[in-house]
Amino acid sequence: MSEEKRLKIAIQKSGRLADQSLALLEKSGVSLAKSRDQLLCRAENYPLDVFLVRDDDIPAFLANNVCQLGILGQNAFLEKQALGNGKFESLSQLLPLGYGKCRLSIAVPHDFDYKSIQSLTGKVIATSYRGLLAAYLKQHDIDADIVTMEGAVEVAPRTHLADVICDLVSTGSTLVSNGLVEKEVILRSEAVLVSNQITDPVIAGLADQITSRIKAVLRAENSRYIMLNSPTASLDAIKAVLPGSASPTVMPLQGRDDMVAVHAVCEEGVFWNTMEALKANGASSILVVPIEKMLD
Ligand code: PRP
Ligand code: ZN
Repeated sequence: MSEEKRLKIAIQKSGRLADQSLALLEKSGVSLAKSRDQLLCRAENYPLDVFLVRDDDIPAFLANNVCQLGILGQNAFLEKQALGNGKFESLSQLLPLGYGKCRLSIAVPHDFDYKSIQSLTGKVIATSYRGLLAAYLKQHDIDADIVTMEGAVEVAPRTHLADVICDLVSTGSTLVSNGLVEKEVILRSEAVLVSNQITDPVIAGLADQITSRIKAVLRAENSRYIMLNSPTASLDAIKAVLPGSASPTVMPLQGRDDMVAVHAVCEEGVFWNTMEALKANGASSILVVPIEKMLD
């Protein structure tokens, strides 16, 4: 019997994206044996193996076809591409995943007299993102020195290793606690699904299937099912308020000819002000429920 072909995906082992990446795979119907210490985790119910690695290593895994899919921060992916001398050019971003949002920014000490990007001329900038920073400086025609650091970039100005920094900012609390102020955003980033060029048709089919499932999970997570009762006379006004819903289902209410029930899938946020606007237009008994799965 020939060996079953298995798709391989690499995700971050620990760190910001780890838990949500694993959860996303599980929501996509892949159940994994829970031994997180291992490098390789085998799915029990799908021909998929999951590599748990450092996010920095994922582009190389893809480029060498150790895996065909990867989930990593766009920041890490684009940095590898920027420094890779074409090595990672054949990899492609399939879709943004909506979590792990952060930005790569230039930040300066409080007492630094920052007027514009020109203020960086002749300065020393500490970063773990040499490739992206160098491209940004070049694009703005700024001549500055870059010091590469693996971590603890935020302490570089205090220790006089650099004048300013270029680092990831998420909540901003690292900057605040180090007396730094964000001045330029170089890149807005989030987790992305990346693939290499898959030649095997069986593996390509599996990759497509997992990608579609992930898309469906993300869509469902962003969508809500709304049910409400509407006066027949204000149906058009109510429909106009329902966010991102093409054609709601309208049903009679037994014993009432002045009211109908309206059900709709809303693919945009349903917030309190949406509910209040519905109510102001005459809607009653408004229910908003999460959607678990969605497939067209
Ligand atoms: C990043 C970055 C900052 C911090 C910013 O480090 O280097 O130190 O996150 O996040 P905040 O704005 O929410 O404070 P990370 O935790 O990824 O660790 P590393 O620097 O060791 O890679
Ligand atoms: Zn990292």
